[in-house]
Amino acid sequence: MCGIVGYIGHRDAYPIIVKGLQRLEYRGYDSAGIALYDGTSINLSKTKGKVEDLKNKAEKGISLTGNLGVGHTRWATHGVPNDVNSHPHYSNSGDLVIIHNGIIENYESIKKELTKRGYTFKSDTDTEVLVNLIEEVKKTEEVKLGQAVQIALNQVVGAYAIAVFDKQKPDEIVVAKLGSPLAIGIGENEFFIASDASPFIEFTNNAVYLEDQEMAIVRLGKEIKLRKIKDDAIAYPKILELQLNLEQIEKGGYDHFMLKEIYEQPHAILDTYRGRLLADQGIIRMAGIDQHLEKFVNANRIIIVACGTSWHAGLVAEYIFEDLARIPVEVEYASEFRYRNPVITDKDVLIAISQSGETADTLAAIKLAKEKGAFVFGVCNVVGSSIARETDAGAYTHAGPEIGVASTKAFTTQITILTLMALKLGKEKGEFSESKFHEYLAELENIPAKVQIALESNPLIEIIADVYKDSSNCLYLGRGYNFPVALEGALKLKEISYIHAEGYPAAEMKHGPIALIDEQMPVIVIATNKGHYEKVVSNIQEIKSRKGMIIAVVTEGDEQVTELADHVVEIPETIESLTPLLTTIPLQLLSYHIAVMRNCNVDQPRNLAKSVTVE
Ligand code: F6R
Repeated sequence: MCGIVGYIGHRDAYPIIVKGLQRLEYRGYDSAGIALYDGTSINLSKTKGKVEDLKNKAEKGISLTGNLGVGHTRWATHGVPNDVNSHPHYSNSGDLVIIHNGIIENYESIKKELTKRGYTFKSDTDTEVLVNLIEEVKKTEEVKLGQAVQIALNQVVGAYAIAVFDKQKPDEIVVAKLGSPLAIGIGENEFFIASDASPFIEFTNNAVYLEDQEMAIVRLGKEIKLRKIKDDAIAYPKILELQLNLEQIEKGGYDHFMLKEIYEQPHAILDTYRGRLLADQGIIRMAGIDQHLEKFVNANRIIIVACGTSWHAGLVAEYIFEDLARIPVEVEYASEFRYRNPVITDKDVLIAISQSGETADTLAAIKLAKEKGAFVFGVCNVVGSSIARETDAGAYTHAGPEIGVASTKAFTTQITILTLMALKLGKEKGEFSESKFHEYLAELENIPAKVQIALESNPLIEIIADVYKDSSNCLYLGRGYNFPVALEGALKLKEISYIHAEGYPAAEMKHGPIALIDEQMPVIVIATNKGHYEKVVSNIQEIKSRKGMIIAVVTEGDEQVTELADHVVEIPETIESLTPLLTTIPLQLLSYHIAVMRNCNVDQPRNLAKSVTVE
């Protein structure tokens, strides 16, 4: 889980690579490095820390000239984050330079073999082993770099997106992919290489995404040639026209990407249902479902697999699908499902939810379900991602790039798309009346405006955050549709502010967590007027009688909870199944403000990465 960038062409490589790495820091940010070829030699600078640290070091330490270069921002897998383990890595001769995103699992045995042949290693990384294996193959087999890379990759087990160049042949970069993403941007006699298109979006809209097991020799003055790593078969590059624009991947005046993305939610939700929800005609149009309607309608059950926040969206979907479409649903952590020998038949539909579309465990769960004959449907945000390509059909959330590591708009747009699916299937199965269906569609259309109103609580939430910013623990409670929102609220808080937080179904509190409650313990309770309101009120009373501090998210005009709670944040009234789209907003803002007040790095919390492409 790292970000890689490369450039070859007529421009200065340094600014392109550094800016590109900054855009890819969501993929990892514990160390960074750059290698530039200046026409005679390779200048390399690397450091523990962020791309900003790399910039400071490189600008003082090395010549920044050159039209060929590669850079890397790392999330450590093999070897601690330090200067030496940072990429790029040289081969022993000093001719070859590599950047790598992924893991070479059999690197130890290869390293032993290379050591016997006299190779030495400076770092603890699998990547330095790979570049030396390529060098050894190139020397012993007397082949060109492209072939050497291919032969070497056929000897390794693992996952990779790599870019390698040779000082002796500085008109080309060789790239290859298995398991980790790799895009090539195509300009006028120039090429950009990156983990996603964000590093080159201001230079070109044309890109090729390598498929697994493909490699390419990117050579100046030539068209890109792709080949299969295993059998050398020629593959034809599909050049895509990208829809991204620069503004979408910049902060647009906000202090953090996370805040920008929280505020983007009214628009993002609207973009998710645009062209799909035709409320005036009483239609939901979703090509991925329309083409496979029988599969869904006749499904024995739906299995949802996902990780993290996407798994929480899956839990909300369990309530929605069972409630509206009357289809049994199981929600699984992808990482457990893939190793569990689950019972799956061809009457099952598996829905994989993933913002990035690159999460390794989710991808593996999809492959397993496909092998066992299930029909697999993907809900992804990133267009052309591995999961989007691996599934039988799917629907994009169209939330736009999510750069803050803490997922926000991905969550609400995933819920939006899953709601559309459940409504569509419920209608097809005749589970509710025409008027009920219209009521849902009309209310879904109101949601962006209601999210906007929920966002207006921001100043109040900032005040509440100031009161609780020094807490060591927090409890989040919700019931029914809002139980997963409680889990998501707790995840948001712990991942960006490092405060320990737990989410629970409110009624479970008395089976254990209630023991934690004292006057130090803030308890965030989702207490909207629909869905077990009276029972949640009783839970609040239980907390109050043990001196816990209550922050309640309530429906506008609420009186009972308002009376009991220490702080209340109101959201507009809506249909019960749509409440998660509103109740999650104050929880996102609360975690954001607490993290800012604790001087935490909101967009790049420690130890995390946006895209988890390793298991
Ligand atoms: C939390 C968060 C993670 C991701 C998880 C799955 O804020 O971002 O928990 O939700 O890593 O990622 P995707 O959705 O890309 O599969």
